[in-house]
Amino acid sequence: MLNVEEIRKDFPILSREVNGRKLIYFDNAATTQKPVQVINRVMEFYMKNHANIHRGIHTLSQEASQLYEEAREAIAKMINANPKEIIFTKNTTEAINIVAYTWALRKLKRGDEILTSLMEHHSNITPWITLSQLRGVKVKFIGVNVDGTLKMEDIPKLISKRTRLITITHASNVLGTINDVKGIVKIAHENGIPVSIDAAQSAPHMPINVKDINCEFLAFSGHKMLGPSGTGVLYIKSEILKEIEPTISGGGTIKNVKWIPEMGTCKIDWGEGPEKLEAGTPNIAGVIGLSEAAKYLMKIGLENIERHEKMLVEETMKGLMDIGDVKIYGPMNPNIKVGIVAFNINGLNPHQTALILDQYGIAVRSGFHCAEPIHQIIGAEDGSVRASYYIYNTKSEIEEMLNVIREIVELRRGGEVR
Ligand SMILES: Cc1ncc(COP(=O)(O)O)c(C=O)c1O
Repeated sequence: MLNVEEIRKDFPILSREVNGRKLIYFDNAATTQKPVQVINRVMEFYMKNHANIHRGIHTLSQEASQLYEEAREAIAKMINANPKEIIFTKNTTEAINIVAYTWALRKLKRGDEILTSLMEHHSNITPWITLSQLRGVKVKFIGVNVDGTLKMEDIPKLISKRTRLITITHASNVLGTINDVKGIVKIAHENGIPVSIDAAQSAPHMPINVKDINCEFLAFSGHKMLGPSGTGVLYIKSEILKEIEPTISGGGTIKNVKWIPEMGTCKIDWGEGPEKLEAGTPNIAGVIGLSEAAKYLMKIGLENIERHEKMLVEETMKGLMDIGDVKIYGPMNPNIKVGIVAFNINGLNPHQTALILDQYGIAVRSGFHCAEPIHQIIGAEDGSVRASYYIYNTKSEIEEMLNVIREIVELRRGGEVR
């Protein structure tokens, strides 16, 4: 079990008040709060170590470069990758766009196909639709069952001779559904297709082992795992990384750029490691803060975090079902969900519910959560209310949310809230 009371002491923001109540933060799928360890590490870097990386011979630059590369090692350890396979990005969205506009843009041809699903975040839909317009490739969608699970059985039927990539979320940011990505990679590889995984909602919440999953790409956000804003990660399997040439390029991405007078142009030799996809000066302080976040999570143990969140999800679903007049979306089995519960009070707009909860200091998300297609599929045309949990959330906080929801439902039964 997590020692949540001890953990909470590391998060200064959790002791603040919102609307006269102690803050209850249930918007962790959007971004998580930061522990003092991460905040102090960023501050310390600026106070003691700050310099640009990889370019300077002077001591400060060497120190900053070493800290940046140690951060790559910490992230690699967290997902069982080689540090040379870790690219730092500003978020998951940028990471997926790198897959689309470096690897896929150069590799795919008119008529090729990409397979994704209807439970994706917009960040794993829009780059592919844009690519389809630029390259004439076709994007196909794997469906979702009524219970909020992926239609796995449809994947072999959707694969064709022209399928060049499967890009899929590990966990839905609306339903919480955990997809069998290892199973998907197996089907894909049997057909010679690489797989890109959106791990924005899984990497912060459960153990990830890229060697075991055997995917080619895996993207996640540092700011959703206690790290600073503007940090994210893209894992690329080394064989694939070797053949990639950057699209966004410039300083840091090259081995050398030579002026060839007889040709009247410059010849570029790209760098070999992950830095070839990290053009320009990166978010050095953010990445160093992110490594502190990764160490913090590994110390707690991602398997313990996963267990804690499942308990919170179970508590929420049980409570909502007891209240009644509430529609819960996604699987009802907490064992196949990350710490996310999306719901609606029958007949009440999700923003209204969120506004009322906010009056009690409870921060939940309402609307489409950047995933409109899945809301069409589940019949939540106005969106949903989403409570999403992390290591510092408690059963008693959930009780407080349930009490407010119970009150709203009872007032509605009495005709007082419309
Ligand atoms: C599944 C999923 N993918 C991608 C993203 C985009 O993350 P970011 O905003 O950090 O780029 C999110 C954010 O909520 C997400 O939940």
